[in-house]
Amino acid sequence: MTSINQKSIIVIFGATGDLANRKLYPSIYRLFRKGKLSENFSVVGVARRPLTNEEFRNNVKKSIHQYEHDEIEYDQFAEHFHYIPFDVTDLAHYQELNDLLSQLDEKHRTEGNRIFYLAMAPEFFGTIAANLKSEGLTDTSGWTRLVIEKPFGHNLESAQVLNDQIRHSFREEQIYRIDHYLGKEMVQNIEVIRFANAIFESLWNNQFIANIQITSSETLGVEDRGKYYESSGALRDMFQNHMLQMMALIAMEPPIKLTPEEIRSEKVKVLRALKPITEDDVNNYFVRGQYDRGIVEEKAVNAYRESNGVEPESNTETFIAAKLLINNFRWAGVPFYIRTGKRMSTKSTEIVIQFKDLPMNLYDDKDKQMHPNLLVIHIQPGEGITLHVNAKKEEHGTTPTPIMLNYQNIENDKMNTTEAYEVLLYDCMCGDSTNFTHWDEVALSWKYVDIIAKAWERKADNFPNYLSGSTGPKDSERLLSRDGFHWWNVTEKGYTER
Ligand code: BG6
Repeated sequence: MTSINQKSIIVIFGATGDLANRKLYPSIYRLFRKGKLSENFSVVGVARRPLTNEEFRNNVKKSIHQYEHDEIEYDQFAEHFHYIPFDVTDLAHYQELNDLLSQLDEKHRTEGNRIFYLAMAPEFFGTIAANLKSEGLTDTSGWTRLVIEKPFGHNLESAQVLNDQIRHSFREEQIYRIDHYLGKEMVQNIEVIRFANAIFESLWNNQFIANIQITSSETLGVEDRGKYYESSGALRDMFQNHMLQMMALIAMEPPIKLTPEEIRSEKVKVLRALKPITEDDVNNYFVRGQYDRGIVEEKAVNAYRESNGVEPESNTETFIAAKLLINNFRWAGVPFYIRTGKRMSTKSTEIVIQFKDLPMNLYDDKDKQMHPNLLVIHIQPGEGITLHVNAKKEEHGTTPTPIMLNYQNIENDKMNTTEAYEVLLYDCMCGDSTNFTHWDEVALSWKYVDIIAKAWERKADNFPNYLSGSTGPKDSERLLSRDGFHWWNVTEKGYTER
């Protein structure tokens, strides 16, 4: 982290939306409480709705009500917020915004530093970026940065068009593409676990690792996002970004330095080394699913096709299991199994590294196989790492029994647990782009994903094919059993077992 107390004005497009209320205002508040914002920070919200400053500030206060506070602090915080009703296609509104920013800049001495955060429908990203430049909002004495939410395009072609539009107004180093998984504590910990421990890094290759499993399962369904999800599916919503990013962090070579450029360059190499698959081959490497009715957390729930905004015959996948191969010296022959789905039995994101078995088992008593060593990185809901090893547990005899060396990051104080958006916003203020996705990564991910999307568009599947509250379709098990493996699933205790 370069410095604290960054001075800047944050302009939020989509200021009345769900993301702003649920994630951005609470994150800004937490940074404020922790003293990480300059006294003189300022936030300008813009959105279509005609709100007064007062109404906007009340909304902001509502969005942070869950945190302990006293009224004075709340009011002090809210005073930093300003609002302009805004039509993103109307140039006059940009002029008005620019005037307000200049006034605030002078008042708060924010040195011309501006963050433009686009927390809204992606179809306007290009227009906003162009208008910000043409109306002079990027022309300041300080720095300007553009923060963009996903989805970044729908495929490589549309992502390229969007990128070209944005790049007319902002240079690559000014663009911060958010992947909120990169702000998660344990995702950031992957690098430290790998590169600060001799015992792991020396085993981190195809000589010692049998397979790697990356799972992100959710119990929620599509809720009220049916319309968006119909055009995205799990492939574009989770796989193209969050899942491939986690895989790249697990698989990359040690960077020569921990700078954004060096880390990115290693991640890009992983994505370039992904074994390409053809449309005809997709079924051998990818399994898709869509949830049916079922029981989740003891409640009966509807099928995906019964959700608002979803076609009754929809062929959109809500589950993916994939086998990826990385063609380089370190990973040749090691399958990376990736799985993500909605309406599964548990909400959990974790990475399991399964080590190879010993060449012979001295303790083999015929019916008892030794448990493989596993390193599990728990990303959420619990944060921690578990190393599964074998040891003698009984007083007599030497039968190896699996035991777990467990580290849980126990953080009860809600205010002190940093959340992904808080971390990323702060990084952006400090100009640290390490945990944002560079265009090269976006382009390579789309290139890989487009083939799968095309194959799936060609042929509908037999949906729905898994019950809500289950671990997904049967074929997902077969994807691994063909290779002699199985998924390691989280149990209620937060450990993985067969
Ligand atoms: C978002 C997806 O990017 O990530 C959502 O659009 C998904 O569909 C969410 O629910 C999952 O995030 P998290 O942090 O809850 O795992």
